[in-house]
Amino acid sequence: MNDRTEEVRANGFTDHVLVCTNDRDSEHASCADAHGRAVFEAVREWLRERGVFWSRVHVAETSCLGLCSADGTALAIHPRSRWYSDVTPGEVPDLIREEFGPEADRLGVGNPDSLD
Ligand code: FES
Repeated sequence: MNDRTEEVRANGFTDHVLVCTNDRDSEHASCADAHGRAVFEAVREWLRERGVFWSRVHVAETSCLGLCSADGTALAIHPRSRWYSDVTPGEVPDLIREEFGPEADRLGVGNPDSLD
């Protein structure tokens, strides 16, 4: 095991966006069938346009977040501990702007190490 926490922090990490793209072969709803991949791409695009994709904000596809819906994707933002469901690709810009500020100038909220 290699603890790389300090390295990640030193590289400027502030926030982690987890987007569910879980697919399941059952009658129950899953985010893969509810725009999961498109929401994931929309999050990356918004962050990329502001120059913070992976430099400050990490984005990851994840399995089930426990907020399944047929109407949209589940998404979580940490360490601020924000949770959304039913997200559609068209809603991503407003959602991320609301969380991170119009120019991604409100990063690191909820991370005690970023609140100096
Ligand atoms: S399948 Fe996405 S939250 Fe459950």
